[in-house]
Amino acid sequence: MQRKGARRHEVLERLEHEPVLDAAAVARVAQDTGVPEADVWGAMRFYSLLSRRDAGLRVCQGLSCKLAGSDALLAELAAAGQPHVAVSCLGQCDRAPAAIGADLHVARAGAERGPVLPDDPELPVNLGGADDARYAALAQARRLGPDRVLAELEAAGLQGRGGAGFPAHLKWRAVRGEADPERTVVCNADEAEPGTFKDRETMLRRPHRVLEGLAIAALVTGARQAWVYVRGEFPACRAALEAAAAQAAPQLHGLTLHFVSGHGAYICGEETALLESIEGKRGMPRLKPPFPTQRGLFGKPTLIHNVETLACVPELLLRGGAWFRARGRAEAGTKLYSISGHVNSPGVYELPLGVTLDELVAVAGGYRGNPRAFSPGGASSGFLPMSMRDTPLDFGSLSRAGSMLGSAGVVVLDDTVDLAWAARQQAVFFEDESCGQCAPCRIGTRVLRQAVDRYLDGGDPAALRHAADVGWEMDEGSICGLGMVASWPLQSARRHFPGDFGPHKRR
Ligand SMILES: Cc1cc2nc3c(=O)[nH]c(=O)nc-3n(C[C@H](O)[C@H](O)[C@H](O)COP(=O)(O)O)c2cc1C
Ligand code: SF4
Repeated sequence: MQRKGARRHEVLERLEHEPVLDAAAVARVAQDTGVPEADVWGAMRFYSLLSRRDAGLRVCQGLSCKLAGSDALLAELAAAGQPHVAVSCLGQCDRAPAAIGADLHVARAGAERGPVLPDDPELPVNLGGADDARYAALAQARRLGPDRVLAELEAAGLQGRGGAGFPAHLKWRAVRGEADPERTVVCNADEAEPGTFKDRETMLRRPHRVLEGLAIAALVTGARQAWVYVRGEFPACRAALEAAAAQAAPQLHGLTLHFVSGHGAYICGEETALLESIEGKRGMPRLKPPFPTQRGLFGKPTLIHNVETLACVPELLLRGGAWFRARGRAEAGTKLYSISGHVNSPGVYELPLGVTLDELVAVAGGYRGNPRAFSPGGASSGFLPMSMRDTPLDFGSLSRAGSMLGSAGVVVLDDTVDLAWAARQQAVFFEDESCGQCAPCRIGTRVLRQAVDRYLDGGDPAALRHAADVGWEMDEGSICGLGMVASWPLQSARRHFPGDFGPHKRR
């Protein structure tokens, strides 16, 4: 229930600007915004960039950083007495092991930023190309009008690149069809899935392309307000987008752009948690329906898209839906694949949607060592054996294979990696990042991590005997996708690598 006159949406930004986050600061923000003190306190505790603001160096614990030696970095910092904290994936998997400083910029990295493909006009996003502030596609959209833009979008077969692969044109039509004339578009730039850093590169290299896609979406859906929610740990991305927005202002007439930074909660990438966060609350996913297209930001019909989805739109419109569709294989268009782990050249590569792992790794400089397993789409996608290396890396094929493309954050593991250890890393991630709203997820993620720990400590497979049941309960009883898939890494690792979960094995 909103208190009359309360300015809840200001809470997080106000907390962000408080020099010290103590009880007095919370009371001040509560007083100024009219939001109850307990709510302000709850919001502050929820977000790690607020609750642990002065923690020192933030050392990434994502799988790729773990593989590259983040434990040694933690030990080094501890030995030097340097304040630090272990955090979930920082989206710097190409630079593993990585850590960020108090200003949230990368302070320690094992490598330079990874490469992208060189300029190629046949690529819809074309990360290697020069960003372009002419907004020709937006002008084209104005000439064509909403119905013809929607027809091109449908012909293109563009599926959302944020994870679910839902057809974009259906969401645009749904928002456009709502009776409420006050609509909103939102760019989901909260990229935080372990193994994924494609949106980071897109915002840094092609900010105009992202904003142009957003402006076209606003034009077609009739939105006059656009929000961009950028991961807090990506300050350079927000700066690139804001600079582009200032430059593009004359072309964006009629559209008001709002930029919001995340505060260090992975769950805010989930679309309804993200909306809650923009509204100044803890990022806890909402029950659906109603879907955001019906009741989204501040209760208004809302179109929310991933950065990459929006970045596909301008070229798609200029070259036509059929052109875009033909860039893919069984599914339409190209895909930005982030790849890291045991490959020679971790980076972001735009390839036809549906390439195989071997094709992707060939572009990424080849395998490093002898490959044993891969995770095709972030932590949620689990682990697959190399016998499945020919599975097309697209939404449908991976789903049929019992995995998911998700955000296409591919991590390759060589034959030195124990899959029980790897499953534990992902279990820790989900336990840390569960928002805690539903009991099956809050308790289940902890029970699974504890079970793997017991197995790794004692070498007794009996420690894992309830894991499948716990996973089932989580899938059945969770509100959002996090709880539904959090057991997948462990379940898939046990299914495909039973030898790593056998008896008498001690680590
Ligand atoms: C736990 C969880 C985390 C998510 N994280 C992201 C994210 O970081 N970025 C993103 O675009 N979508 C993320 N999603 C998907 C969004 O909920 C939503 O489907 C997406 O933003 C819609 O955009 P699209 O249609 O362009 O894919 C996440 C979903 C879940 C369940
Ligand atoms: S499934 Fe987990 S992350 Fe999602 S709403 Fe429930 S507790 Fe939160």
